[in-house]
Amino acid sequence: MSRVFALLSVTVIVAGLITAATAADDDKPLEKHSIKDVMKTAHKMGLVQKVVGKEASDEEREQLVELYIAMAENDAPMGSQKEWKVRSARLIVAAADAAEDPENVDALKAASNCGACHKAHKKS
Ligand code: HEC
Repeated sequence: MSRVFALLSVTVIVAGLITAATAADDDKPLEKHSIKDVMKTAHKMGLVQKVVGKEASDEEREQLVELYIAMAENDAPMGSQKEWKVRSARLIVAAADAAEDPENVDALKAASNCGACHKAHKKS
């Protein structure tokens, strides 16, 4: 029961964030990206590392939020879809916190743990 409630609140938060992000962007629809796309841009090319290292520009921090929102719209290739949405929501919220205050990176550091998420949701 409490899990369902927690999940509902996360969904509400995400819905709010999506509205906020879209409004900030002149009401333009956000680009769609596959999970692989997001992994390449946000993780392999070092965007999240830059944000966590407090070296990212305002634009880069906003870009990370948008990439995670796009990522959350995909289903995970493996594992519980519910857990996947919660993990994705945590990343969105953590990246949004860092976008607002560049010093606020602890939640993002924790949520972007590569191995934990790959074990749960990435095939092989
Ligand atoms: C919230 C979950 C999550 C986190 C956190 C995460 N990944 Fe991933 N990653 C995935 C999933 C799911 C896939 C598989 C995508 C697919 O096969 O469609 C993936 C795939 C990848 C791929 C392969 C992409 C390709 O083209 O096949 C790379 C590289 C990668 N991740 C790097 C990273 C790195 C580096 C980190 C840590 C900084 C990280 N990921 C953190 C979920 C995550």
